[in-house]
Amino acid sequence: MEFQIGVIAGDGIGPEVVAEAKKVLNKVGAVYGHSFHYKSILMGGCSIDATGVPLTDEAIAAAKASDAVLMGSIGGNTQTSPWYQLPPQLRPEAGLLKLRKSLNLFANLRPAYLYEELKEACPLRDNIIGDGFDMMIMRELTGGLYFGERKTEEIDGVMTAVDTLTYNENEIRRIAKRGFDIAMKRRKKVTSVDKANVLDSSRLWRKVVEEVAEDYPEVAYEHMLVDNCAMQLVKNPGQFDVILTENMFGDILSDEASMVTGSIGMLSSASLNDTKFGLYEPSGGSAPDIAGKGIANPIATILSAAMMLRYSFDLDKEADAVEEAVRQVLKDGYRTIDIMPQNENENVTLIGTAKMGDFICERIK
Ligand code: IPM
Ligand code: MG
Repeated sequence: MEFQIGVIAGDGIGPEVVAEAKKVLNKVGAVYGHSFHYKSILMGGCSIDATGVPLTDEAIAAAKASDAVLMGSIGGNTQTSPWYQLPPQLRPEAGLLKLRKSLNLFANLRPAYLYEELKEACPLRDNIIGDGFDMMIMRELTGGLYFGERKTEEIDGVMTAVDTLTYNENEIRRIAKRGFDIAMKRRKKVTSVDKANVLDSSRLWRKVVEEVAEDYPEVAYEHMLVDNCAMQLVKNPGQFDVILTENMFGDILSDEASMVTGSIGMLSSASLNDTKFGLYEPSGGSAPDIAGKGIANPIATILSAAMMLRYSFDLDKEADAVEEAVRQVLKDGYRTIDIMPQNENENVTLIGTAKMGDFICERIK
């Protein structure tokens, strides 16, 4: 089959990791008889440099015209990069938020999985790791604090800033349904995370989730307060299957969940709307400190490409093959610097970004 893929290489390590994901897709194409066509799309700091804005209307149109979009990362060093001297709506991140909103990408899936081979990179003690863990964070991505009204003004001589957290029941219902649907394909457990002891938006969240749950009698579900969830993620991560939560809580909890897997360099993500279209990006950032050195871990981006095969193109077999190749390369002892064990281990070899891509390609059968 033929597929049109929009490619947002972006800033920092983005272009390096995206190059490896394309290598892997091309290998999948060669083995399974598909052709992937790529169209470069500017977004983030590189777009600011070229056009003055982080995302142009042409870029949005190009993304919309694709079957799916593969993204590296955007943004730079917030302390030193001139991009952060610009007003907030012209900074790199504003491009990403605008793209999510324009394409209605309300469902963000962030799997966090502990590979047997990477147990040593996990910062948790063995008795907490137990049999490992495998969870899916389902984060609402187009509502809440990120998209509420905001302003900063002086009131009676005092600088005052306001951000608003709004959700309506329809926004909650559609993400909750996605969460329960995914749970049905996994271990059939949903933990809905909120702050219902304080926030109205969370009380509505809870009520709607309970209504949706009635349609999924096979799924066990529970409510958990977000502060408790932050604690439970390091105390007993094995208890979670699907974590369903709103935008801001999901932003924070997904970084935490990624760290307990050992490295954010391993974590993929998919942002979906209600069609087959999706935006696929690693959970990690642009890592400007290591950009251009050829040492970044491309696995999160490669696994994001696998999610694209699975969710946008319905190519499950091909997605399995990529995931299996990643597992195999880790079994064979190859590591980028971020997942190298701390103690000496002669069965492990340090490699760079491009070698990691090559070795994964070699293992795609
Ligand atoms: C993420 C990132 C973004 C977010 C930033 C870059 C705006 O942290 O995808 O988690 O907060 O959503
Ligand atoms: Mg984040």
